[in-house]
Amino acid sequence: GSTLQAAAAESNRYYGAAMAGSYLNNSQITGILQREFNMITAENEMKMDATEPNQNQFNYTNGDRIVNWALQNGKQVRGHALAWHSQQPGWMQNMSGQSLRNAMLNHVTQVATHYKGKIHSWDVVNEAFADGNSGARRNSNLQGTGGDWIEAAFRAARAADPGAKLCYNDYNTDDWSHAKTQGVYNMVKDFKARGVPIDCVGFQAHFNSGNPVPSNYHTTLGNFAALGVDVQITELDIEGSGTSQAEQFRGVHQACLSVARCTGITVWGVRDSESWRSSGTPLLFDGSGNKKAAYNYSLDAL
Ligand code: XIL
Repeated sequence: GSTLQAAAAESNRYYGAAMAGSYLNNSQITGILQREFNMITAENEMKMDATEPNQNQFNYTNGDRIVNWALQNGKQVRGHALAWHSQQPGWMQNMSGQSLRNAMLNHVTQVATHYKGKIHSWDVVNEAFADGNSGARRNSNLQGTGGDWIEAAFRAARAADPGAKLCYNDYNTDDWSHAKTQGVYNMVKDFKARGVPIDCVGFQAHFNSGNPVPSNYHTTLGNFAALGVDVQITELDIEGSGTSQAEQFRGVHQACLSVARCTGITVWGVRDSESWRSSGTPLLFDGSGNKKAAYNYSLDAL
């Protein structure tokens, strides 16, 4: 294939990008999206603070704009994200206990129902595990509502949109030896054993020199897949430049391609100039929309 989406499709995988609403005003970026990508994630527009700015008053304007653009252009959509400790609306941030639990479940139900039938996969829960060596859950207001909050969110999402694949998504879960990786693995194993509805695990894959692409990435992806879930690279970006950056992108692609149930790769933006890491150059296209070495190595690896 001569584009990322065409090359990925040769092995029945998708190739995605995150997009911000502002991309819709930039014909160079929408042109690249149309040509190269067949899966879209809204960078911020479907998060809790965006979709429920006031309790039980939902605003889908900006999310709908992205979802409608994607569907009208023949793309699929990854929903991101239904429940997360970060980017919560102000009214939710200081809630706790049963009222927070009910508010979270209502949010999951309402948003998944609004987008029902339009979503390939939902990141139902994002980043619920702690960094460091504990392998434990992250201490958050949601965790404070009870350790079963994650499975409750998954059950609510399944009830609201039975057609969407339901994913758990996190970062720094790429290296098999990390305690955080093991914590997530044990949760997914437990969910599968008890019939909690989970279909996929997303690996954000935000890499930099302090957090490089692990050489055992294929082991991690393969071990999760062996639990009976799809795995996906969901927010890929890698700080750096030139050949060394390109080689790391190649490594991520090779790891996914080596695991049958690694069903797709999404990069977290299109051009370096719009990246959330605004000081760096972590993406596949430069600020002028030119393909970088990272693009060529990624395409060749697909
Ligand atoms: C980031 C967005 O890219 C930024 O625009 C925003 O200011 C903060 O969130 N993990 C995730 C994403 O799951 O939602 C985050 O996106 C990046 C880290």
